[in-house]
This record gives sequence, C-alpha cells and structure tokens, in this order.
Amino acid sequence: MSPHEDAPSSKERFMPPDSIVSKAHVQGLASYQELYDKSINDNEAFWTEQAEQLHWQTKWSSPICKYNFNLDHGPVHISWFEGAETNISYNALDRHIENGLGDRVAFYWEGNDEGQERTVTYSELKAMVCRIANWLKSVGVKRGDDVSLYMALVPELPAAMLACARIGAVHSVVFGGFSAEALADRVLDSRPAVVITSSGTMRGPKPIPLKAIVDDALNISEGKGHSVQHVLVLEQLPLADVGASLRPGRDVVWREAVDSQPDDCPVEWVPAEAPLFKLYTSGSTGKPKGVLHTTGGYMLGALTTTKLVFDVQPTTDVYWCTADCGWITGHTYVTYGPLLLGATQVLFEGVPTWPDAGRCWAIVDKYKVSIFYTAPTAIRALHARGDAWVTRHSRSSLRLLGSVGEPINPEAWRWYHEVVGGGRCPIVDTWWQTETGAHMITPLPGATPLKPGCATLPFFGVEPAVLNERGEELQGPCEGILVMKRPWPSMMRTVAGDHARFEQTYFSAFRGYYFTGDGCRRDADGYYWITGRVDDVLNVSGHRIGTAEVESALVAHPSCVEAAVVAVEHPIKGQAIYAFVTLMTGVDHSDDLRKELIATVRKIIGPFAAPDVIHWAPGLPKTRSGKIMRRVLRKIASKEEDQLGDISTLADPGVVQQLVELRGK
Ligand code: WT7
Repeated sequence: MSPHEDAPSSKERFMPPDSIVSKAHVQGLASYQELYDKSINDNEAFWTEQAEQLHWQTKWSSPICKYNFNLDHGPVHISWFEGAETNISYNALDRHIENGLGDRVAFYWEGNDEGQERTVTYSELKAMVCRIANWLKSVGVKRGDDVSLYMALVPELPAAMLACARIGAVHSVVFGGFSAEALADRVLDSRPAVVITSSGTMRGPKPIPLKAIVDDALNISEGKGHSVQHVLVLEQLPLADVGASLRPGRDVVWREAVDSQPDDCPVEWVPAEAPLFKLYTSGSTGKPKGVLHTTGGYMLGALTTTKLVFDVQPTTDVYWCTADCGWITGHTYVTYGPLLLGATQVLFEGVPTWPDAGRCWAIVDKYKVSIFYTAPTAIRALHARGDAWVTRHSRSSLRLLGSVGEPINPEAWRWYHEVVGGGRCPIVDTWWQTETGAHMITPLPGATPLKPGCATLPFFGVEPAVLNERGEELQGPCEGILVMKRPWPSMMRTVAGDHARFEQTYFSAFRGYYFTGDGCRRDADGYYWITGRVDDVLNVSGHRIGTAEVESALVAHPSCVEAAVVAVEHPIKGQAIYAFVTLMTGVDHSDDLRKELIATVRKIIGPFAAPDVIHWAPGLPKTRSGKIMRRVLRKIASKEEDQLGDISTLADPGVVQQLVELRGK
C-alpha cells in the first residue's frame, strides 16, 4: 500500500448524513458558502460576532486586526483585538462555573493501563489550576515569565498550562518523547526559572523516566549557562521506581508543594496580544524554533474551530482527541478548545495498541465517545492489525471522526469511514500547522460533501491561494504552493526571540503572503488536496522533523563526516527517515556502527526521529557548486534510479552507481 496511491480525480463523494446536518451549527454547503463569503468580505464583523461568545474584561478598539504581511512595506506584524484584555483560563473555567456548570465533567482520564481512571469536573479542574498557579506565584513566577513543562498526559498537564495562563506566565510544553538534549535545547532557548515534570510513567509496557531525563537536560543547560531554580515533580510513579531523585533546594514534590495551596487564585487580566505559549517546531534549517502564540486571537481560533469543525454539543457529546499536549493538536484540541466550549472530553495517557489493538474502541465504548480525532498514522497502524479489533466493540456512540497531522491516504480514509465509523460518521480531515494555531482547511461535518483524502475547503476567515514557483497566483483548478493572503486570529506572531527568522521563514519567499511550506492541488470544486511539504521537513507518524536536524545529529557521531536525509514512503508512518551517511576515511561500515548512529539520533532528538535506513555513502551526489541533490537521493532510496532524469549537472555522476551498489549493505 502506498500512502498516496489515489489521484484526486476520484469521483467519490460522501454527503453529510441528515442526522448530522440537522444538529449542525452550519447546515449545508450553501450556508457554509454564505458565511464564508461574509467572513472574507466583512472579516471584522465576522470575528466581532464570534468574539462575543467569550469574556473580555476590556473591549478592543477598531480595527479588530492590524497587520503587515509584505516585507517590502516594513517589518511583518500581526495583532488582533488591540486594547482588549482577557484571560484564557477564566474563559475556559470560571466562565462555565459561573454559569452553573461546575459539576460538568471536564476530563475522563484513562491511564496507560486498563483500570487507571479519574474523573475531573470543571470545579475540580479550576481548583487544581488555582493551586498550581498559587505555587507558581509562591516561587516568584510573574506575568511574562517562561515555564517549561515536560510531563505525561495526566490532568495535571493541561491544568499546569492553564495555571500559567491564569497568572500571565508563558508555557512551553515539551513532548515527553524528546530526549534530554532536545529538552536542554528548548530550555536554553526559553530560559525558564521553573520546570514542571512528573517522576515518570508507563508508555505501553515501557517505563519512561521523565524526571531523570529532566535532570540530564538541566545538567546540560547548567553547563551552558542557564540554571533552572525550581522543579516541580508530580509523583506519578514512586521516584525510586524510575531512578529519580530530588535535588534539595531545587526540586519539590507536588503533594507537598501544590496540594496545600489555596483553591482560589485571581486571574491576571492580560492584553489580547500577551504571549500565551511557545511551542518548538522543526523547520527546514537550523534548530527548532519557538512558535509564539498570543492570547486573544488564539483563544478565538481554538473556540470557533472546535465548535464548528467538530460540531461539539457540550451537553451531549463526549469528545476525544488522542493527541499529546506536547504538540499543537494537544494545545488547541485538548487543553484549550474543548474547555473553552465547556465540553466533556476523554484524556488518554496510553497508546492505541496497549494492552491490545482494540484499546481505542474499548475507551470509546466505556465513555460513550461521540467525537474521535486522531492521526492517519494511528489509523493505518490499527488498520494493519485487522478489523476484528474494531468490530468486537460496539462504537455505537461515535457520530463524527477527525484526522490530522499528514495527508490521509484514501485507503486509510475508507477504512476509517467504513469500519471504524460504520459508514455513518463524517470524517473531518483538518489541515493546519503549529504556526496556524487552529484548523485552516477542513470540512464542516454538516456542510461539506467529503472526498476521501481531501482536506476540502477553507475555514471561515481563511483566504488561501496557490502560487507557482515564480510567486504568481494560480486560478481555478491548479497545483502549486499553498499560501495565505491574510491573517487569521490564531496565527503565530513571531519566532520567540528571533523575529528576523519569522520573517525569513514565512514571508520572504513570496511577498505579501504567509508561506505554509506545503504543496497542494485545487480541483474543479475548489477543494484543496494537500500534497505534502515542499521544503526539507519530514512528517514521520505525524511528527514534524527537519532533515537538517537529523543530519546534524548524525554528524555529531565521530565516525560520520557527512549525512543527507530524505523521506521514503512508509505504509504506517506515512514517511520514514532514510539517511545516507559518509564515514571518516579509514572507518569501515558495520552493523554496530549503524546501531550507534541510530542511537545518536535517538539521544540528540528523540526515539521518534530514528532513521529507518542507514545507507552507506562513500560520496554524495552534488552539483558542481557543492549542493547535495536530494532529488537523486530520493530516487535511489525508493529504488527508482531508472527514473533519475538529468544528472549531467552532478559533479561526479559515478557516485550514483556506487550508491546503488551499496544499497542493503
Ligand atoms: C504540517 C504541520 C496540525 C497539527 C499537527 C501537525 C502536515 C497537518 C494535515 C492534513 C495534510 C497535513 C502539513 C503541515 N499536515 N495536517 N490534514 N493533511 N497534511 O502540526 O507538526 O505543525 O505539522 O503537517 O504538512 O504543514 P505540525
């Protein structure tokens, strides 16, 4: 199976079922079109009306949005709701409690192992958030300060995010699958005084020693000049069981530090443009960048997309997004969006295949989940295990499915639709990015006829365009580079500490447009088909990894002089990492060395970035000016060297034959 086997010429259409349409916020394609046109033609009126669903302590002044996207006209800047003050923790918690909804369940938490469960109501969540906020204040954290979080998916993680937001501190969640060195890089970039972590947890059958990893990271950070003052440790597993210790004067355990704090903490009203969080993500060059999101616009984007794209009915739906809070999906569609709506959701700490491949559907039945949102890689992995794992569970509560993170191949789409959803649940294939903060191109369940594998149409207020390589806008059906013509409330505002990099990455290639990094096709119905990254960014199991990052990790091994990384198609992961490695003169290749190289990448970035293949390369195909020709490497990696095309510009065309001979060695 190839993840991208179908051409978008397919005539398959799935019309929204009447049962979905009749309850939907937007009913029918004509209503979508009308509202979409309004959102573009009178953007200010559209967003003003949407923003009225939220609490603003002080109202904004007009215009609702000020921006410049064109570097020729000066620095790029974007601001929404200038003059307004609000607080996202107030909007996610207090607002609902004041409306009498304090006893509604916010989280049904399901742990890694069956039988581990907790229920947290909105009132309980608010109390937890306040206790954490009070502890943060007690150690001196103030508005604008950075706090790093490195935790497993327990209710304390979204609670800690909301606690930061409550007092105006800026959270930076680092996914618990990143290595100590990757965590150290992020700590060194944002320089927090406080890190919040847990002792450790189980992921499937495997213990994850989170605190020990934090210790290693903070030692690295200390060696490079930044000392973290306070580490708060949630004792998920006994410290001794995960080889964790406490450093006196720096580390405190949750039970002692947080549980005794008062249950109430007043919110800090912050300007709409106050930073809310940083989230590090990979680009085509250099180190991961801290994508900075601010408060008011992000809050509005999270609320409106959660409400309209998942059509959440807070009184009847149980919503479940399988993402970890370490990624943007977990920020917007676990922590913020559902809570801003006052919805009830499942929080699942484990993995879909533990203890068996039916776990997700067991959870769906247990909590009567009606909206389920996951990644194509998980869908493909479960598909590969066979239908029986799915069909032995009822899944009758499901009414809507979602997909995110990478293009979903039509084959996986159909299986998700027919087998998981029993043919009755629309699938919202949501295209967006860490940078966009919220859904950008996506179906609306009660409005958009679906085509398998297609992200379909722009969300309200989103104005995409497709450019050719010269930067000219293409009209009608076409294929090219996906850009955005105007800002939307939840877009990133800058790269933390490096506005020049923000401008360079997103606004320099095409003047006046936001560059997404993705290619796309637009069909005759105006539907957008995302074709994948056009830059050197890989998407492995929905995780975004820069080729440059993997290459520099490989080169950190003393035996490696040069490395070039490309993606190859993979039936489950979507893409797999394929690395060409040139060794130091005199060093022989061996299986041990291959293992060492892979271990080096795991150590520097994290296990999820480990190359699937190391291909020994005495030389790499380069142009005469020394640029590596990845196009050639991709063909060799996918065994298509008969389709190399013109290689006459190679400095040494002989390397191609050499590489082909070394395949599998
Ligand atoms: C990149 C962004 C958005 C949250 C998770 C990933 C790819 C994402 C889709 C989709 C096709 C998709 C794009 C994008 N992508 N969703 N529905 N269809 N491609 O966030 O790590 O910032 O990665 O993921 O290539 O640019 P991210």
